[in-house]
Amino acid sequence: MVAAALGVGLLVAGPTLRRRHPVAWWLCVGFPAAAWRVACTWRPLMAACGLAQSRKAALTVVSGLVGNGAPPPQPRVPGRWRMHPTSGGFWFLVRLLPGQVPEDFVKAAPAMAHDWEMHAVRVTTWRPGVVRIAATFADPLHQPRAPRQRGAGRLLQVAVGVLESGAPWVIDLREVPHWLIVGATRSGKSTLVNALVAGLAPQRVALVGIDCKGGMELALYTRRLSALATDRAQAVRLLGALVELTQDRMTICRKARVRNIWSLAEQECPVPVVVIVDELAELFLIANRTEKDESQAAATALVRLAQLGAALGVFLVVAGQRVGSDLGPGVTALRSQLGGRICHRVADSGTAEMALGDLNPDALHAAQSIAPGAPGTAVLASADGWECARSHLVTETDAEAVAAEFAHLAPSLPELADHAP
Ligand SMILES: Nc1ncnc2c1ncn2[C@@H]1O[C@H](COP(=O)(O)OP(=O)(O)O)[C@@H](O)[C@H]1O
Ligand SMILES: [Mg+2]
Repeated sequence: MVAAALGVGLLVAGPTLRRRHPVAWWLCVGFPAAAWRVACTWRPLMAACGLAQSRKAALTVVSGLVGNGAPPPQPRVPGRWRMHPTSGGFWFLVRLLPGQVPEDFVKAAPAMAHDWEMHAVRVTTWRPGVVRIAATFADPLHQPRAPRQRGAGRLLQVAVGVLESGAPWVIDLREVPHWLIVGATRSGKSTLVNALVAGLAPQRVALVGIDCKGGMELALYTRRLSALATDRAQAVRLLGALVELTQDRMTICRKARVRNIWSLAEQECPVPVVVIVDELAELFLIANRTEKDESQAAATALVRLAQLGAALGVFLVVAGQRVGSDLGPGVTALRSQLGGRICHRVADSGTAEMALGDLNPDALHAAQSIAPGAPGTAVLASADGWECARSHLVTETDAEAVAAEFAHLAPSLPELADHAP
């Protein structure tokens, strides 16, 4: 009776529960059903994907002789560990059979997703001989929820969106100091920068803007910025001042016999500086001789900042539509210094390749299949793979409000005094 009542109750309330409380719905209804589906389909699925191995022929013959007509032994399938539910799906570990490699399972992932009626299945190597299969029941990137609370958080760490696994997408400048953000017009570059600035604004961090589109994008944060350049000449002077600032910090570190500013005593530790460049091409495209000199000076200064900056508390976030070598020789050198890569929807495969590298064709394919209807979706490349993610929608109004709220936290750096916005 109780079971029947529960069943009927869930049938009636299921759709509402799913809409209002997707996580509760998943844990109570979705996950048990998915676990049942996985258990039932595992053996036929492995066989259909060519991941089962037939027993030795001799064994089959022997069993046929002694088994008195019993069916021959089933083929061996890879062993599966217990399923673990997560807030947006489940995962489990699988031991490979002899001769199998993780790539065999990667190829089978779409079939698994269809069989189990899940949104997506990702296969990763857990340890040699074991793969981790993780499935998500809905697309977390469809309508990413904004973080519940906004606080200062850990220094130089900002949750800017959600990953396709449902986990927060965190940009940590202490871990990866310099970032390259590419994407076509209206693919979500500036929105991501907004999310980053909104997260950094409450922290003890100096923000510096370089926006050669006349300051159209970064002028929103004027009140929280410690310096702003809105054309190329200003940008070159500002970058020069930043290089000098790093050199001063280098002297301080050398005198204190430490290798980076984080090892200095707390009262001596200079404030970290995050330099945001929106639309890189505006800095590099040249029409005449003077512009060529300026653009080269800007490129050299940016490369030097990238090389020296991380240890001295200067971080670069560079956004652009393209980062091709047609923008000049400096761009290639700069690109190789920017370790963090974020690729939004792109217009051509060349740009995706420049951002993500050509090591991982899957990542390039994923970047090129981002739909125009999902701005803010991006592919993130890291040393050990790639992931899809979507930024939180932080509108211009939100960004402006945050900048005004934390305007009093904008540190004034004497080295950049001439460039105050
Ligand atoms: N994460 C997101 N979620 C929802 N909408 C977004 C997101 N990112 C961008 N958008 C929408 O796309 C529009 C263009 O984004 P924007 O950041 O200005 O692109 P870009 O700087 O690449 O030209 C924004 O006005 C916004 O409406
Ligand atoms: Mg923009």
